Amino acid sequence: MALLPIIIAPDPRLKIKTKPVDKVDAEVRQLMDDMLETMYAADGIGLAAPQVGDKRSVIVVDCARQGEEAQPIRMANPELIEVSDTDYSHEEGCLSLPEHFAEVVRPDGIRVRYLDENSELREIDADGILAVCIQHEMDHLEGILFVDHITALKRNLILRKLKKTKKQAAKAVG
Ligand code: NI
Repeated sequence: MALLPIIIAPDPRLKIKTKPVDKVDAEVRQLMDDMLETMYAADGIGLAAPQVGDKRSVIVVDCARQGEEAQPIRMANPELIEVSDTDYSHEEGCLSLPEHFAEVVRPDGIRVRYLDENSELREIDADGILAVCIQHEMDHLEGILFVDHITALKRNLILRKLKKTKKQAAKAVG
């Protein structure tokens, strides 16, 4: 297991479209495990491969509440096969946009097909926070960030602030 550096927006590596994996082999499984470790260390509930500089369609999520047993889900090539007619608005954050949050509206129920860590084809029905989280991570695989769902005014404000913070951090390192 290894902790991976998380890429902070704005960054072109967060705007790529990922490629599906042929199968989940030991190497992809390692990526999934490293991503989970990285996500837990950063106190996140989801992470997508582009956030750690990887171009494969892989996401991990764990939406267990505090005090509950961990519920890690590893997904390769996730695909939305059903979405509900009803929407759900939730305040989202992202490990690649630290300390910024915004309300995003998405379908509140989804069915997702994916390859699990054993390369088995699976389907999962999700609603509530798990549905939000999976859709947010799947967006990352298309180069979409949660700020792409809000107004350009709010998006630019957040991205400008992040850019400034990154510049200051670079200066501090020298
Ligand atoms: Ni994110």
